[in-house]
Amino acid sequence: MEDLTPILFGASAFQYLNAACDIGLLDLLHEKPNLSKDEIAKKLNLQPRAIDILLLGTNSLGLTEKKEQGYVNADVIEQLIAAGQWQIFKDVVGFEQHVVYEGQVDFSESLKTNSNVGIRRIRGSGRDLYHRLSENPHMEQAFYNYMHSWSELSNPLLWQHADFSNVKKVIDVGGGTGVNAIALAKAFPHLEITILEIAGTVPIARQRIAKAGLEDRIHVVHCDMFHDHFPQGHDCVLFSHQLVIWTPEQNIELLKKAQDVLPAGGKVIIFNSISNDKGDGPLMAALDSVYFAAIPAEGGMIYAWHQYMEWLDAAGFKDAKAIDCEGWTPHGIIEATK
Ligand SMILES: C[S@@+](CC[C@H](N)C(=O)[O-])C[C@H]1O[C@@H](n2cnc3c(N)ncnc32)[C@H](O)[C@@H]1O
Repeated sequence: MEDLTPILFGASAFQYLNAACDIGLLDLLHEKPNLSKDEIAKKLNLQPRAIDILLLGTNSLGLTEKKEQGYVNADVIEQLIAAGQWQIFKDVVGFEQHVVYEGQVDFSESLKTNSNVGIRRIRGSGRDLYHRLSENPHMEQAFYNYMHSWSELSNPLLWQHADFSNVKKVIDVGGGTGVNAIALAKAFPHLEITILEIAGTVPIARQRIAKAGLEDRIHVVHCDMFHDHFPQGHDCVLFSHQLVIWTPEQNIELLKKAQDVLPAGGKVIIFNSISNDKGDGPLMAALDSVYFAAIPAEGGMIYAWHQYMEWLDAAGFKDAKAIDCEGWTPHGIIEATK
């Protein structure tokens, strides 16, 4: 039965993590390890019952530890901080709390109806989460902090493993804040990149690109990937963290649009989390699928490798190559040629 406890009370486990980040417990213990309970309570301005609860949870979950001299962070938290990934991790926590948490309640209903019932928890009239973000500034900030961090964490895999050596001009479909375009432009000085984005996100991307001083090589175009044509004159189309959002039918449609504008020999590159073909993991792929099924758009998930291969085939691509990145996140890359 003990194995079931973290699942049965999984929502509470996440709330301890969120509180430990939000209230600043883990930052405090990094700066000042070995504090007593009273000292922590004073610094965090918490009443005795509140600090009792918080430390009971974080100690039980292995986020903090009580040593003889006082309380310290668990090794895994200190390792994240040492690796320079702590802010990235906190941005993911913020996304789970402010964007994912409420809508997940509708997961079961979303499965029964094969649609994203959880979108009803996101205020606004836009047709999907992305078109509602500008109507919810607090959520928009949590979303793009997360998306930027998540891509910053994972995109070294993209420029280290995908082959951009013979590519000149890339379309980055739904390129978000421009985080991947900026990383690619820095890694490959010969590349030019065109980001396609919705109206609400164009200024966010342009601002980040200007800050990186890359306006001459990265262009942001207002383009609805479903309703507008992809621009001509590019030899590579990148879908990063994109095909997890949409249904299989929509993914084939998007891959066909890429096929239509690429020259012979042009490339499509898919980069996102991927689940295994056996259908039993990785665990993060399964857990992340709850969000994609319940909230952002009609229906996506962390799809399996074989599904991407089938869609590429249906869209007319050949020589598909799968690259499993084998990291903490279940990222993978698939490249194929027209
Ligand atoms: C999950 S984010 C991925 C962002 C970026 N590719 C990355 O890897 O960091 C999906 C992006 O697709 C954009 N998007 C959603 N629907 C779109 C549409 N119809 N046309 C163009 N972009 C769209 C969103 O605004 C959002 O920035």
